[in-house]
Amino acid sequence: MSINEYSLDTIAVRGGQIRTHECEQSEPIFPTSSYVFETAAHAAARFSGEDPGNIYSRFTNPTVRTFEERLAAMEGGARCVATSSGMAAIMTTCYSLLEQGDHFVSSNAIFGSTVVLFNNYITKFGIDVSFVPLIDYDAWEAAITPKTKFLFLETPSNPLTEIVDIARLAEIAHRKNCLLVVDNCFCTPALQKPLEFGADIIIHSATKYIDGQGRCIGGAIVGDEEKVGETCYGFLRTAGPSMSPFNAWVFLKGLETLRIRMKAHSENALEIAQWLETQDAVERVNFPGLESHPQHLLAKQQQKDFGGVLSFVLKGGKNAAWSVIDNTRLLSITANLGDAKTTITHPATTTHCRLTDEARVKAGIDDGLVRIAAGLEDVDDIKNDLKIGLDKLGKN
Ligand SMILES: Cc1ncc(COP(=O)(O)O)c(C=O)c1O
Repeated sequence: MSINEYSLDTIAVRGGQIRTHECEQSEPIFPTSSYVFETAAHAAARFSGEDPGNIYSRFTNPTVRTFEERLAAMEGGARCVATSSGMAAIMTTCYSLLEQGDHFVSSNAIFGSTVVLFNNYITKFGIDVSFVPLIDYDAWEAAITPKTKFLFLETPSNPLTEIVDIARLAEIAHRKNCLLVVDNCFCTPALQKPLEFGADIIIHSATKYIDGQGRCIGGAIVGDEEKVGETCYGFLRTAGPSMSPFNAWVFLKGLETLRIRMKAHSENALEIAQWLETQDAVERVNFPGLESHPQHLLAKQQQKDFGGVLSFVLKGGKNAAWSVIDNTRLLSITANLGDAKTTITHPATTTHCRLTDEARVKAGIDDGLVRIAAGLEDVDDIKNDLKIGLDKLGKN
């Protein structure tokens, strides 16, 4: 029985593992830069591709391969290419699929560094990008030109948690001969499998929930044999943004507990979001699990749960946002997410600070916006920590 025939929980624990002669129970780490050949002829056969196998760890590594096979199976893709970071996954996808004169369309509600990568680096080489609002389907369609190669998006978006209908956008993309690329970092395959809704390529920042404990930087691209296994892999093995074996091992361990962690993150986030909605100082809460969220029903259909990220706007703008953040005692003031430790950040002055004022307004990043990535602590402790700052605002 192939590993793909098992359910997600089984794939997450056992996918990709090939035991060595040592009969180890847990996956080994292979910290080696190169591999030894039996003879010169053997080396020549490896280099010519006649004998497929390891040559050099920029190309392949057994621990990294195990991670790639496990994640590919969890996403339902034929191939996965692991990268040194989430940004490296996005860069590799762009440089592999695009050439001079090409164009792509991106949601404007994406991670700040991705906007900077698109605007300042990818477009340096005669490639054009257009940005559209995530849930304006007419705008997506209107932005596509005969030169458009792919549409790029995150759902839920960061930090506003907007949800796009992946199947609807995949239909638009395919009708216009484009690919659909989805950054699935917020949901992970435990909550959402974009390939099942028609997406062609999945991007991951493994740094987030796949690691789950804020230790390592890594990324991945998942898709079919041709686009990912040949085109993206061809760029990666030459340009070199490859994942380290140690990081791959940490991510493998992360995958084993991913689904139960995502369930716990989602439960905590929902409770925090519902509680924040009752607070006087709070103008609006963004979380797909709330009935007040404009795409709540779509999130219910497309995702298994609502995820761990929420954001809220304080009536008092930036001062209020900074005050609530500075009054926390337990939460970590850091821009990372997907950690067992709850994190809190002010997107306008951190993750999105390199955007122009105009781009920030277009992306809906209010000065009073605070993002929380709910961790796995006791939810009452998290709420009490936020309450210190919120209560102080009420008294000003
Ligand atoms: C949605 C999303 N995609 C990609 C990235 C980039 O990932 P990395 O930091 O691993 O390069 C991030 C990082 O925060 C992110 O939130």
